[in-house]
Amino acid sequence: MHAIETINLSKIYKSGLKAVDEISIKIENGEIFGFLGPNGAGKSTTIMILTTLLKPSSGRAFVAGYDVVSQSKNVRENIGYVQQDSTVDEYLTGRENLILQAKLNHLPKNLVEGQIDNILSIVELADRQHDQVVTYSGGMRKRLDIAGGLLHRPKVLFLDEPTLGLDIQTRYKIWEYIKKIHDEFEMSIFLTTHYMEEADKLCDNISIIDHGKIKITGSPVSLKNSLGNEIVSFKVNHDANLEGLVSDLRSIPIVREVSLDDHKVTVFTSSGDQLMPKIFQQTSYLGMKLDSISLTKPSLDDVFLSYTGRELREDVGKFDRKKERERMRKIRA
Ligand SMILES: Nc1ncnc2c1ncn2[C@@H]1O[C@H](COP(=O)(O)OP(=O)(O)O)[C@@H](O)[C@H]1O
Ligand SMILES: [Mg+2]
Repeated sequence: MHAIETINLSKIYKSGLKAVDEISIKIENGEIFGFLGPNGAGKSTTIMILTTLLKPSSGRAFVAGYDVVSQSKNVRENIGYVQQDSTVDEYLTGRENLILQAKLNHLPKNLVEGQIDNILSIVELADRQHDQVVTYSGGMRKRLDIAGGLLHRPKVLFLDEPTLGLDIQTRYKIWEYIKKIHDEFEMSIFLTTHYMEEADKLCDNISIIDHGKIKITGSPVSLKNSLGNEIVSFKVNHDANLEGLVSDLRSIPIVREVSLDDHKVTVFTSSGDQLMPKIFQQTSYLGMKLDSISLTKPSLDDVFLSYTGRELREDVGKFDRKKERERMRKIRA
């Protein structure tokens, strides 16, 4: 049995928009799996189907072995869901929020206090538990959200954009907590993100999702290696005719892919060391002037670019929390 399995799962909204398009995934028990994609890719829609809040239009999905449509109650008993937008009550204290959450989850009374103490210490909020949430920072609120999702020790935890809109340092902190709870509780985690680095650092496997479709699935390392595990990029003088050079490069067996942007050439290769001398040779033979040359490892950004033809922007600063809350409210209505 898989922690999560979907078979040709689709969601068409009333507007006619196909937000989730024939998605089939399998997530092993104990795995941290990431859905990586830009805004509007269909990540939250997928999570809402898997957490039984939204009905699929077609296809099937199983979470912890239960069908999300016909066995939704069983699914809910086995999952924790930390929504994209905070759900805590700002005028209650951290602890009061967790007590409320415990009641909503029907946590047995004799377990409530102990479990709350335990989870508060894991997310390091014990010393602030009696303060109103309105005094918490963004990172502290997120940690409280995550604590709420963990109270009933779910088998599968869903985290929808756990670090959206948080500054870099706070994001790193949240990653540490996610790793820590994963080690402690050994549950499966399904998270969505549009931060490359987050998927790279946290996930065993990821799917790149764009316009509701999965573009590719694999471990971050295998996705990066699928392009060749090194990148050589260089620039040549502006009057050079690059077509000949590009086709020469493409014919070299260790070259996986060549992309051309203005006078910058990017070559994905299995061996940068072997390729570099060939580039020197060939450009000098063609009478070109090499401007700069560098050897790097591909990032998930490069993978995303090569599968979607677009860059996945990390628009941290531009994120509008109020607008996003408004949008989510509409979705839930
Ligand atoms: N309730 C809804 N009605 C119609 N369209 C929606 C609704 N919710 C989301 N969408 C649209 O579906 C697409 C996927 O949205 P969403 O799942 O929120 O993407 P993501 O979480 O990846 O940003 C977007 O184009 C969004 O505008
Ligand atoms: Mg979303």
